[in-house]
Amino acid sequence: MNFYFAPMESITMYPLRNIHKDMFAGSVSKYYSPFVTAAKSKHFKNREKNDILPVHNTPFFEGNVSSLVVQIMSGNSETFLWAAKEIAQLGYKEINLNLGCPASTVVNRHKGAGLLADPDYLDSMLSEIFEAKENTPELKDIEISLKTRLGIADENEAGKLMEIYAKYPISELTVHARVKDDFYKNTPRLDAFCSSMKRYRECGGKAPICYNGNIFSKKDYEDTMDKFESNGITNEVSSMMLGRGILENPALARELTGGEVLTAPELKEYLTKLYAGYEEYIPEDRNVIFKLLEHWAFIHTHFANCDKYLKAIRKARSKGEYLAAVRNIFASCEFK
Ligand SMILES: Cc1cc2nc3c(=O)[nH]c(=O)nc-3n(C[C@H](O)[C@H](O)[C@H](O)COP(=O)(O)O)c2cc1C
Repeated sequence: MNFYFAPMESITMYPLRNIHKDMFAGSVSKYYSPFVTAAKSKHFKNREKNDILPVHNTPFFEGNVSSLVVQIMSGNSETFLWAAKEIAQLGYKEINLNLGCPASTVVNRHKGAGLLADPDYLDSMLSEIFEAKENTPELKDIEISLKTRLGIADENEAGKLMEIYAKYPISELTVHARVKDDFYKNTPRLDAFCSSMKRYRECGGKAPICYNGNIFSKKDYEDTMDKFESNGITNEVSSMMLGRGILENPALARELTGGEVLTAPELKEYLTKLYAGYEEYIPEDRNVIFKLLEHWAFIHTHFANCDKYLKAIRKARSKGEYLAAVRNIFASCEFK
């Protein structure tokens, strides 16, 4: 099983990706950028462009094979193809189309999971993309993968979607086993995921399949694998994408591949490096701390009875206050 680091808007930016790759090398085979928007104006936002510039992502270009996948948010083939060419020119080898974002600002513009509402339109968009890819020299060698949900409101929508995906030479199909209306709530729809994958194969879909949803621990992984086995799809799923689980436990992929569990000194080093990484491009202490708080929202689960100490981290307004509060939580709370 391969493990991938999921795209997470505003969180999995280049400092995090580089530091994670440096410290937990080998356990994650691909990282995804949060989506870059393929706007009608044919300009990337500065923040998004900055995040994918090769100069900020040098560890991912070693050996001339980029293990960083850039994700595009687009609602039509024209802007997708423009963005894909720009990204190909930067040296990336795989581009991923976002068909899963449930935010209403995205869905209402018929992007992200919004594209799942009109399968015929999605079919024509993919047809235009793959036809143009064949006829565009800059795009010939680039791989295009999809990250989708099972539908908008009902998992039975997935059958039709799988018939469509099976028609195109996508390089990988990642499925977040929820529908748009689930957002990130409830448990993933594992039975629907399994039957959809069978449908995808029945329709001739050949792409490797990546599962995504609620893998936080070895137990979650094993339970999910059991489910795949009882549904006869174990051999069909070659990778798992980890999102909130790997933010909570940066060593999760290592643990799932039989390696050591996360240690407190490792987590401390990771947080110290993240602070330094964010400090390089975020001007004020306060804003660096806000960025780190996005991580603490996941990481605090490692500390028992930590409310008081966590509050001090949240209240920190200077680097000194923040570092002292972090030292305190490590010194005072049991690490689990
Ligand atoms: C804050 C946040 C931001 C996200 N941003 C993106 C994104 O930019 N692109 C994307 O495809 N998915 C995005 N996702 C979805 C995750 O990649 C992943 O599919 C989801 O969290 C389910 O996986 P998990 O249960 O392992 O977290 C985001 C999720 C969260 C919670």
